[in-house]
Amino acid sequence: MRLTSNFALLVSTLISAAAAQDLGVPLSWREFSNSRPKSERITIAQNAIDQMTPQLVSSTGEFNGIGYWQSGNVWSVMANQDWLAATTTNQALVVNNLNLVFSRWQHYDQFGFNDDAMWWAQAALYGYRAYKDTNLLAHAVDVWTHVTGYVITAAQASAGKNPNKSFNIEPTCNGVTMAGGVFWRPTTDDTAINSITTGLYLTLSAFLGEYTGNATYTNAAILSANWIKNHNINANDLVLDTVNANDCSTSPASWIFTYNTGKYIEGLSVLGVTSGDSSWTSMMINLLNSAVKTNVWQGSNGVITEGASPTANNDAVGFKSVLIRGLHEAWTRNPSNTALTTLIHSYGDVQYNALLELAATGNTYSSSWAGPPQAFTSWGQLAALDVMTSNIDTN
Ligand SMILES: *[C@@H]1O[C@H](CO)[C@@H](O)[C@H](O)[C@H]1NC(C)=O
Ligand SMILES: *[C@@H]1O[C@H](CO)[C@@H](O)[C@H](O)[C@H]1NC(C)=O
Repeated sequence: MRLTSNFALLVSTLISAAAAQDLGVPLSWREFSNSRPKSERITIAQNAIDQMTPQLVSSTGEFNGIGYWQSGNVWSVMANQDWLAATTTNQALVVNNLNLVFSRWQHYDQFGFNDDAMWWAQAALYGYRAYKDTNLLAHAVDVWTHVTGYVITAAQASAGKNPNKSFNIEPTCNGVTMAGGVFWRPTTDDTAINSITTGLYLTLSAFLGEYTGNATYTNAAILSANWIKNHNINANDLVLDTVNANDCSTSPASWIFTYNTGKYIEGLSVLGVTSGDSSWTSMMINLLNSAVKTNVWQGSNGVITEGASPTANNDAVGFKSVLIRGLHEAWTRNPSNTALTTLIHSYGDVQYNALLELAATGNTYSSSWAGPPQAFTSWGQLAALDVMTSNIDTN
């Protein structure tokens, strides 16, 4: 017994040594620590939320100045704030508005986008995590069941047909099955499968597997995690955007956005625990290390530059907060990996200090995290909220 387990330990040590990454913190990063106590970090984050809530349109459950999917992300961070601060400050607003929007739009799908529906379902799941409100869990299951009709199963890939799509699908792209890919839109002739829709489905599935103990969800998470792994990661360990299921054509190689890698990191962080397969965690760590060090969305000082848009909202403004939230999930799930948690802590503090020192006007923040500060915008505030709330923990 003893010999065998020592041998297993030796083998696994060798394997992890072979795969080991340098998780060191780049010394070129700007201010990668700060000494604010937790109580102050909780206050800073809630103050930032309190600047956003006056923008709520009570009849719609959405916020002035940002898009539908972005509004869903405000509810996400408000639920996470209560979860991390152990408060109920935001509970009534979060629960009432997630219920309101669910009653307004079937499956949370206002505009015919599966990713939109799942941003809101994700908010409902965070609400469930914070408040144990089973209505919110039921909303997430409803959306999961709906979107499952747009996931390519192994059998559909072989047959070259998804029953909700009017065109034939390629069984494989580059010789690998298309099973697990999730269509961006329910529209019958829309061919796009993208990483954000598939990553959202993976993450919802992994959380639902954890909360219900039902293997159907965990198996769905594994299938979709494999689709991104097989089809949409570049040579630098960053997640790409789109593959068209009818002909395997792809989005340009330059379409590399924080939220694609960030959402995948979040889903893999959960799946690494719920599946019991640590290879998902190993892959997640490689991607995370690339994400925080790439020059695609930050300079050598580490401050994220993507989605800096002082004068007008656009989708990209909302991307970087999704990466920050994914890093926080990785931090939560891997407490004994101190090289990893130190890296996440340091990167989070770089963003936190930049926002507080370079981009702040009182408790409001520019979407340009490197500054300069400006007057309040809904989209700048949205982008900053996850940094403030995640740093309650990761600082
Ligand atoms: C199409 O998707 C819907 C929604 O998920 C699902 O209920 C339905 O079964 C799918 N249609 C077919 C023909 O499989
Ligand atoms: C597991 O989840 C699936 C998908 O929602 C559902 O069809 C099935 O009934 C569930 N199984 C159990 C035992 O609850």
